[in-house]
Amino acid sequence: MFDVDAVRARFSVFKGDFVFLDAPGGTQVPDEVAAAVARNYRDASGNMGAPYETSRRIEALIDEARERAAGFLGATPEEIVFGANMTSLNFTLSRTVGRTLSPGDEIVVTALDHDANVAPWLELARDKDLVVRQVNITDDTNLDYGELESLLNPRTRIVAFPFASNALGTTVDAARVSSLAHRAGALAWVDAVQYAPHLPIDVKAIDADVLICSSYKFCGPHLGIAYGRREVIESWRPYKARPSANEPVGHRFETGTLPYELLAALVASFDYLDSIGGIDEIAGWERTLGEAFLAGLPEGTRLYGSPTMEGRVPTFLVNYDGIPSAELSVALAKEGFGVWSGDNYYALALYERLAWRDALRVGIAHYNTLEEIGRLNETLGVLVRGAKAASADG
Ligand SMILES: Cc1ncc(COP(=O)(O)O)c(C=O)c1O
Repeated sequence: MFDVDAVRARFSVFKGDFVFLDAPGGTQVPDEVAAAVARNYRDASGNMGAPYETSRRIEALIDEARERAAGFLGATPEEIVFGANMTSLNFTLSRTVGRTLSPGDEIVVTALDHDANVAPWLELARDKDLVVRQVNITDDTNLDYGELESLLNPRTRIVAFPFASNALGTTVDAARVSSLAHRAGALAWVDAVQYAPHLPIDVKAIDADVLICSSYKFCGPHLGIAYGRREVIESWRPYKARPSANEPVGHRFETGTLPYELLAALVASFDYLDSIGGIDEIAGWERTLGEAFLAGLPEGTRLYGSPTMEGRVPTFLVNYDGIPSAELSVALAKEGFGVWSGDNYYALALYERLAWRDALRVGIAHYNTLEEIGRLNETLGVLVRGAKAASADG
């Protein structure tokens, strides 16, 4: 059994009784990750490339961070690229691959995507006269694989898609999309920001060409991590300062000096995840929490996305007829629950298609407890029934 109390003891933030259910926005961080930032400033400040100890420590740290990130994604260390965040990495890498594209070439994106995996392609299309096509979702909010297949053609060069939706939690069969993309001669370009915290990733098993995630979504620092298949990225001409090293190949796409203190925090966050059993253990516990949440939802809940834990991560978008979610999220905050209310959640096409106006997003992480989920459901029920009664009276 997952020892959630032992996990929580490692986070000062959980000393109070506020319930954090905002993981898709960014998770809480264990103290050891915060401590790694300070330790790095003390022990390895300055820069790499100098002939003395503090500098050598930075070089060792970069190697270790690359190795650990590669282990997390099933990649090799050379295939890792660090950047400010997913969005910045995606603009950089899309602009770089854009050098290989010609007017009329096509890029496929999906209606499940966060705009960080759409806008870079729209901007590139504008600059290079490319065509961007969008795959829709089915009525049950899954990716429409049939439509994807019908959009692919010899001009398709990239298929960009999310591994999991940041709004609905819906997961995508990445191996299937990669296989379709490759059959058409296109690259499989995966936004794994919302998948990485919840389910294990193996870039080779899904046959991704590029995959990007962000460690602040899994108890790490605000840092982006990209994987790029070696044979693909070594053929690209990078936008880089000329004296900067060309090896390892992933480094070509890292502009300027890396945030070493955040790399130290990243290593600490992988140590933390490993010490609690890794993402496999996390997935099992989060499934239990998600099932409890779904089973205890108050009457009248409108849930967008899968009604079970099949085909999803534990991110849930819900609404209640006649009760503005903005009011509910404020009321929940007063009761000690951190739950977001929002409009498009950067998922512009989904928002257009499902028209939820404003909706509550409840994001469960492995550090949540069954007691917290039970209490949330109960409080939500009280608030919803109270609002309904008040509107009936009014
Ligand atoms: C699915 C998804 N993709 C991309 C991003 C952007 O990530 P970043 O903040 O690292 O740029 C987010 C952020 O929430 C996200 O949820």
